[in-house]
Amino acid sequence: MSNERAANITVDGKSVEFPVLRGAVGPDVIDIRSLYAKTGMFTFDPGFLSTAACRSAITFVDGKAGTLLYRGYPIEQLAYQCDYLEVCYLILKGELPNATQKQAWIKEISDHTMVHEQLSRLFTGFRRDAHPMAVLVGVVGALSAFYHDAMDFSDQAHRDQSADRLLAKIPSIVAMAYKYSVGLPFVRARNDLDYAANFLHMMFATPCEEYVPNPVLARALDRILIVHADHEQGASTSTVRLAGSSGANPFACIASGMACLWGPAHGGASEAVLNMLEEIRDASRIGKYLARAKDKNDSFRLEGFGHRVYKSFDPRGKIMRETCHEVLNELGLHDDPLFKLALDLERIALEDDFFVSKGLYPNVDFYSGIVKRALGIPNEMFTAIFAMARTVGWIAHWNEMIGEADQKIGRPRQLFVGSPRRDVVPRDKR
Ligand code: CMC
Repeated sequence: MSNERAANITVDGKSVEFPVLRGAVGPDVIDIRSLYAKTGMFTFDPGFLSTAACRSAITFVDGKAGTLLYRGYPIEQLAYQCDYLEVCYLILKGELPNATQKQAWIKEISDHTMVHEQLSRLFTGFRRDAHPMAVLVGVVGALSAFYHDAMDFSDQAHRDQSADRLLAKIPSIVAMAYKYSVGLPFVRARNDLDYAANFLHMMFATPCEEYVPNPVLARALDRILIVHADHEQGASTSTVRLAGSSGANPFACIASGMACLWGPAHGGASEAVLNMLEEIRDASRIGKYLARAKDKNDSFRLEGFGHRVYKSFDPRGKIMRETCHEVLNELGLHDDPLFKLALDLERIALEDDFFVSKGLYPNVDFYSGIVKRALGIPNEMFTAIFAMARTVGWIAHWNEMIGEADQKIGRPRQLFVGSPRRDVVPRDKR
C-alpha cells in the first residue's frame, strides 16, 4: 500500500491533510488516525457505513458487482471446484493446498475431532429446550478452560494449534447440541468421512442404526459451509476482532462471534426465514406479508431478503439457489407445500417494484435455510451450522489481527449526548 494521494478536510475554515491508503482492489481509505490530534474532533459513523476498521488480506466483497473473493478466488469457483477443508486451508494459509498438503491437513484436523469427556458433561447443565446457540456460545467459551498448553498467542504454533482444535471440534459440539436437545446419545466423529458427511453422520446416526450420508446432500452441506466460510468484516467477525484485540483467548473470541451471529439481522436469518414461511403457511397469504414488509409502521421484514453490502445480488445466494434445486430434486421435494411456498415467495418478491427498487434480493440465507430444512435439520440448528462454517473466517481474522505489528486494542469513541457535569443534590433535598 502506498499513500501518495492525500485528502483534505476543512474544519472551521482550516484545511487539514490526511494520507489516502490504497487497497489492492476496492475503495481507497482516508487514514484519519491523526484526526483527533489535528482537529480535536472524532468521526461519527455508527454502523460503520463508511469506516474501514482494519487492514485485511483474506476476503474481498464488491457489493455492486456481486463479487466475493476468498484470497482472490471467486466464490463460484471455490464452491464448484473445491471442498470445505480446502477452502479452510486457503482462508487460513493464503493458498489452496496441493495433494500432499491436503492429506496432511485432513489428518491434522481429524486428529482433533473428539472433545474432552469433561466437556461432554457440560451439556447436562443446560435445559433440554435451550436454544442450540445458547449451548454453543457456552460450550465453545468453555473450551478456554481445557487448553492451557497453547495459550501463548504471540507464538504462531499455539495459534495454529487453537485453530485446528476449533475447526475440528465445533462440528462435534454443534452435533452434540442437537443430540442433547432431542435426548439422543452423542455420536462420535468418523474420521474416514469428509467434513460435511461426518457432520451429517454425527447429527443423524444413532447407536442402533448406521447413517449412510447421501453424497448429493453431503455436497450441498459442504457448499453451505463454503459460501458461509468468511465475509470480511461482518458484525460477528468485527466482534471477534474487537474481543481478540484485548488479548482474549481464541475460544472466548469465537464464542463472542457466535453470540453476535445469533441475531436475526445476521446469522439468525435462515432460521427466521423458515419461521416466516411457517407463519405465512399458504401462497394466498404472500400478498399480506409483502404489504407488511412495505409498511413503514410495521417492523416486519421479509427474512432472507436484502443485504448491507450486496445491492444487486448476493453471489452466495445464486450458488445456494442452484444447490437448493439439486437437493429438492434429489429428495423429490419440489411439491412439498413449504418448499413450494418458498419458491412462490421468491418469484413474487423478485417481480415486486418495492423490493427491486430497494435492491432487496434473496440473500444466501433465504436459500440455505431451505436447503438445511430439506436435509432434515431443524430450524433452531440453522444458525449453529452457520457458526460452524464461519469459525474458519473468525479464526483467520483473529490470527491476522494478532500477527499485525501495530495491533492495538479496539476502542471506539462516542458523540456524548447525555448530561454535562452536575452535582449530586443531598438526599433530603431531591
Ligand atoms: N424486508 C423489507 N424491507 C427491507 C428489508 C427486508 N428484508 N431489508 C431492508 N429493507 C428496507 C428497509 O426498511 C429500508 O427502507 P427505507 O429506505 O425506506 O428506510 C431499506 O430497505 C434499507 O434497509 P436498511 O435496514 O437500512 O439496510 P441495511 O443495510 O442496514 O440492512 C439487512 C441489511 C440484511 C440487515 C436487512 O436487509 C434485513 O434486515 N434483512 C432481513 C434479514 C436478513 O435476511 N439478514 C441476513 C443477511 S445475509 C447473512 C449475513 O451476512 O449475515
